[in-house]
Amino acid sequence: MTVEIRSLREADDRAAFKSGDQALDLFFHRYAGQNQFRHHIGVTYVASEGERIVGFVTVAAAVVDAEDLPSGKRMPPYPLPILRVARMAVATEQRGRGIGKALLRFACEVAERMRDEVGCVGLAVDAKPGATGFYESYGFVSVEAVAGEGRSRPAPTLMFLPIGAIPRRG
Ligand SMILES: CC(C)(COP(=O)(O)OP(=O)(O)OC[C@H]1O[C@@H](n2cnc3c(N)ncnc32)[C@H](O)[C@@H]1OP(=O)(O)O)[C@@H](O)C(=O)NCCC(=O)NCCS
Repeated sequence: MTVEIRSLREADDRAAFKSGDQALDLFFHRYAGQNQFRHHIGVTYVASEGERIVGFVTVAAAVVDAEDLPSGKRMPPYPLPILRVARMAVATEQRGRGIGKALLRFACEVAERMRDEVGCVGLAVDAKPGATGFYESYGFVSVEAVAGEGRSRPAPTLMFLPIGAIPRRG
């Protein structure tokens, strides 16, 4: 069966999805729908195989200060529009099939549409320690390595992919 990527629907059964990460699963089961349909603070795209959801990525519009970006020195000193990859997970038993990469490609296509319609200089993600290699393999670069403190431990790494560096579909 082929995997389709589409936006989350209110009727989707999310309860069966398990990524092995409790916080990500709780977000998907309980908050992804209300964030999208009631609060409009982000949109979740799901990878579905028939009725079954095998992965998701949640994106949201955001801004970043030019000085916080590797390429920021060449940018005007305004808050710059970006697309934030807010949450992303693939079901435990579906890993390694290319679903994560397909979801990331989809998020890049959303960023390119955002660039064309309202402006967008790239994508950013707070990558979990175990996932930095995944994003690096797609061209994201680490912006800062935050050590230790904070609500989220171990701390995530902010990573960025400039809009012009999105890999061509190959
Ligand atoms: C990270 C995650 C989304 C990857 O999904 P996936 O469907 O298994 O990834 P893919 O099969 O599309 O892999 C794409 C490429 O990334 C590589 N890759 C996958 N996970 C990786 C990891 N954790 N570290 C380094 N490389 C990784 C694959 O080897 C593959 O390389 P290739 O294109 O050269 O073959 C998935 O492992 C996951 O849900 N992890 C738990 C939650 C999480 O960490 N989410 C990210 C939060 S920031």
